[in-house]
Amino acid sequence: MDELTSENINVSTWKIPSPLGIIGSHANGEFNGMTASWITQVSMEPALIGVGIDNKSVTYDLMTKSEHFTINMFSPEYTKVFVKFSKPAEYSEGFLNKEAVTLTENSVPIFDNAKVWFELKTINKIDFGTHTFFVGEIINCKTLTPDERVAYMGDTRMKYGGVPRGGH
Ligand SMILES: Cc1cc2nc3c(=O)[nH]c(=O)nc-3n(C[C@H](O)[C@H](O)[C@H](O)COP(=O)(O)O)c2cc1C
Repeated sequence: MDELTSENINVSTWKIPSPLGIIGSHANGEFNGMTASWITQVSMEPALIGVGIDNKSVTYDLMTKSEHFTINMFSPEYTKVFVKFSKPAEYSEGFLNKEAVTLTENSVPIFDNAKVWFELKTINKIDFGTHTFFVGEIINCKTLTPDERVAYMGDTRMKYGGVPRGGH
């Protein structure tokens, strides 16, 4: 059998089909949006979604200090938004990286351009090493165009996952 290498793990894990979304977060007057692909439903009753968040990210910091976050999904024609949010975002009244956002009652940002969004309340989190899996209960959500699909990783040339590389 072939030896298990980082390269093996990378090319294999990158094959796992992934969704793509932007996680909206807020704590103590600080806001962020972060491109994320580790997003999955984990229970029906209650309706829960889990997200895997890098322990070194701004989003991790904000999600640890607050109980709420959002997941925003976009049209396949609008994948450039994921490039904009693969580094910490700048917030100015009503905008994150110049993308219009609306704050929920819990002060977490929903992207005005999102085709589907969820607002979640964190009910559990597990630290697995480099990443923490946050599980949130859906407290609100909306699908704006039910007949259209949203963008996923395969619509882009982006990748995420595998083993840590330089700069991770
Ligand atoms: C296509 C793509 C998917 C990503 N998926 C995730 C993810 O699921 N979880 C995560 O923690 N970071 C993910 N990242 C990395 C973050 O977007 C990036 O490190 C980041 O913006 C740092 O987060 P911060 O702005 O909260 O500091 C992904 C990046 C890209 C380009």
